[in-house]
Amino acid sequence: MNDFSLSSIQNVVLIGFMGCGKSSVARRLACLLDWPPLDLDAKIEECIGTTIQQFFASRGEDAFRALETEQLKLALHQSGIVATGGGVVTQSVNRTLLRQSQNAGDSCVVYLRATPETLATRIRRQPGVRPLIDGNRVLDWNQTRDHVCFLLNQRTKYYEECADLIVDSDELSSHQVAQIVAAFVAP
Ligand code: S3P
Repeated sequence: MNDFSLSSIQNVVLIGFMGCGKSSVARRLACLLDWPPLDLDAKIEECIGTTIQQFFASRGEDAFRALETEQLKLALHQSGIVATGGGVVTQSVNRTLLRQSQNAGDSCVVYLRATPETLATRIRRQPGVRPLIDGNRVLDWNQTRDHVCFLLNQRTKYYEECADLIVDSDELSSHQVAQIVAAFVAP
């Protein structure tokens, strides 16, 4: 059985759909555990010098996924709380990287699960920043939820397969989610 105690792992990796709260939970958890937060999307934006939505528009999703894999590899060799992008688990190379890091005892992977309704509501608070949901379209609430359901149906098996811990986050604040994860890795 894997030992997820803080003294043995190097990083906690947060996975989950867009809008599940990975970045805010990562910041909270980083404070609780006194580990540095590391946001893959922010790292990618630093590297490309533009926003992810502009990069998707000019270079396409495949180019983005290649950068995402590079940043994931770097992150898994560092110590910290890693917030991934929601699509990281869609690439088999990334799932293999996560599994290798878990098997080596370096990473604990946490899936922040939420219902399509919660995700759609949160995604709609930041219009236009998720190219795979509302790239260059204006969507109403039902359309947003339908897009979320479509992608979530494809991805759920991957989130669940990769996770050492699943936290249902619909009714919880990011601080409460961070406390649950902290209790798991630092009991
Ligand atoms: C994506 C999620 C985004 C970002 C990119 C692709 C996805 O990150 O990486 O737009 O495929 O789910 P967040 O989950 O932080 O929104």
